[in-house]
Amino acid sequence: MQTVGTLGNEVIISRFQSIRSQTETICKPLLTEDYVVQPIADVSPPKWHLGHTSWFFETMILKRFYKGYKIFDPAFNYIFNSYYESIGDRLLRTDRGNLSRPSVHQVFEYREYVNRHINELLTGKLDLETLTFLEIGLQHEQQHQELLITDIKYILGHNPLFPVYAAKKKQDTGFISADIHFLEIPEGVYEVGFNNGGFYFDNEKPVHKKYIQKFKVMDRLITNRKYLQFMNEGGYRNFSFWLSDGWEAIQSQGWKAPFYWMEKDGVWHEYTLSGLKKVNPDEPVTHISFYEAEAFANWSGKRLLTEFEWEVAVNFLKPEIRKGNFIESGNFHPVPSSGNNRQFFGDVWEWTYSAYHPYPGYRRAEGPLGEYNGKFMIGQLVLRGGSCATPVSHFRTTYRNFFQPDKRWQFTGIRLAENY
Ligand SMILES: [Fe+2]
Repeated sequence: MQTVGTLGNEVIISRFQSIRSQTETICKPLLTEDYVVQPIADVSPPKWHLGHTSWFFETMILKRFYKGYKIFDPAFNYIFNSYYESIGDRLLRTDRGNLSRPSVHQVFEYREYVNRHINELLTGKLDLETLTFLEIGLQHEQQHQELLITDIKYILGHNPLFPVYAAKKKQDTGFISADIHFLEIPEGVYEVGFNNGGFYFDNEKPVHKKYIQKFKVMDRLITNRKYLQFMNEGGYRNFSFWLSDGWEAIQSQGWKAPFYWMEKDGVWHEYTLSGLKKVNPDEPVTHISFYEAEAFANWSGKRLLTEFEWEVAVNFLKPEIRKGNFIESGNFHPVPSSGNNRQFFGDVWEWTYSAYHPYPGYRRAEGPLGEYNGKFMIGQLVLRGGSCATPVSHFRTTYRNFFQPDKRWQFTGIRLAENY
């Protein structure tokens, strides 16, 4: 398997327990009823995520590499296969919320069964192929941790009782800068793509060169304050800011504000995982589509970055300002910029104006892992930077997230650039 990097045996052993238990920690605040709901096709029930991530380890690792492994329940292949054509027929995505059985309890038993067998496998000597698949299983689990957070938010945020998932954390209110500065990035031919040791997804390779014209990039994310100004100045009513598809989307969907925003007595509120609260003007705006990000850029007289400009700009940052607000902070929401944090990492995934296409020379792997990333390289845009729901050890500068331009349920936000 040459299309992904891998870590050593010891690293995998120590990570397996903590990553699998982190998934269960994320689910701790849920009531049994919360585990089963699928309000829209994009949002999977938490129970399904728990079963699917276990199915991934069972199917990709235990069935291949554990001699004599006995499948927990042969029927689970049909209900927990997500999109792997090479692994057989599967339940329609839209029907995941119909799975009243297996029970939540049985799904946790399934997890425990798979964990026990993976732990047994880890006591033996493992070859490179097994280690590679194990690492992919862990990275996959971390991707689903982020999806769990955003799907739980959708489920609870569409309950009129607006349940609290986690109490709001006290925030570091040290230095909050209202000023936005632009960092100048010189023109040049730059290398992009993954070029370090450790794990990477195949879509981050091959490393290749890009000519970048000089540009300036904002050293802050766009805040709710600025986005409110866009709204108040008719941003959603003036077609001239919008792409044709975006204008069509806001008409047909009735969008007038970011997702999760609602006006109560003339004051904008938003649902957060800490409950319904007044919109904080200093927080980065989030839960917006690509269309809204692009319209906002036009209104500002600026533009979105390409994914390559984003990667090149980040490499100009000093290492000490590369920390960010990831899932481990426990905020589950973007926080105001403080200190030197330029917020390139964590908080919100930043929409870029780059199509999610293969890098030059990219080839899909053989077998089911070839279906992991490569087959989605059409009709989607790249997002960079990670979010407040991303596990920090899952993130890399070269990480390419991708969604269709109308999606709003992930923690998505805006950074702008301009030419000079
Ligand atoms: Fe998955």
